[in-house]
Amino acid sequence: MMTRRQATTGILASAAAAGAPTIGFAQELKPRELPPARTAGGRPLIEALKLRHSTREYADRPLADQALSDLLWAAFGVNRPSGDRTAPYWRHVMVIDVYAAMADGVWLYEPKAHALLPHMKDDIRAQTGFQDFVGGAPLNLIYVAHGERMTDVNPEERRLYASVDAGFIGQNVYLFCASEGLATVFRGAVDQAKLARTMGLPDQQFVTFAQTVGYPRA
Ligand SMILES: Cc1cc2nc3c(=O)[nH]c(=O)nc-3n(C[C@H](O)[C@H](O)[C@H](O)COP(=O)(O)O)c2cc1C
Repeated sequence: MMTRRQATTGILASAAAAGAPTIGFAQELKPRELPPARTAGGRPLIEALKLRHSTREYADRPLADQALSDLLWAAFGVNRPSGDRTAPYWRHVMVIDVYAAMADGVWLYEPKAHALLPHMKDDIRAQTGFQDFVGGAPLNLIYVAHGERMTDVNPEERRLYASVDAGFIGQNVYLFCASEGLATVFRGAVDQAKLARTMGLPDQQFVTFAQTVGYPRA
């Protein structure tokens, strides 16, 4: 019987072997295991819907590990033995990767292992959007699409379906934040091409939207 740590290590190793999109200096960073997500509790859905709203003023304190873990699971974590996710996705093709840009670098969320894979060590938060608050908020999620996985559709449709997938994840994040008293805003005001270059994404991958998360400024 494998321990959770052994299983996670195995999944992380296969993610690396499958060519998880890390760039050069990422090797210096180790995968970051997250505490198991709490999949019970929280405010009732109707209450979360009543509280959901966008926030553009953030405290600069980092997110607690447990909050980060719960948030990523709510966003696009595995919620069934089939490996399917908390958000629906186009044609059952896994198109969206969720990256977490934080002060200590950029991390790729690996839902099967429920861990963060190192992508780059730079703090690129300020480059995830045009608005001032993005550089100071503790977390900016970046929703990256794998265009190469979307076969039989034209580039316009690729953008459309990838954006819808990202939107569902974004709404999960909104409702989670409303439930937990966190602040968030889904953002399209992003220089997507520049951000993709900064992140060293392969040609076929593209940035759809970003979403800031943090504690509301008191
Ligand atoms: C596709 C999309 C793109 C958005 N882009 C931005 C953005 O770049 N910056 C921002 O501050 N808010 C952005 N928002 C948030 C909206 O401005 C916000 O949801 C709207 O004003 C309604 O406010 P509420 O979310 O508080 O109800 C975006 C929302 C969506 C759905």
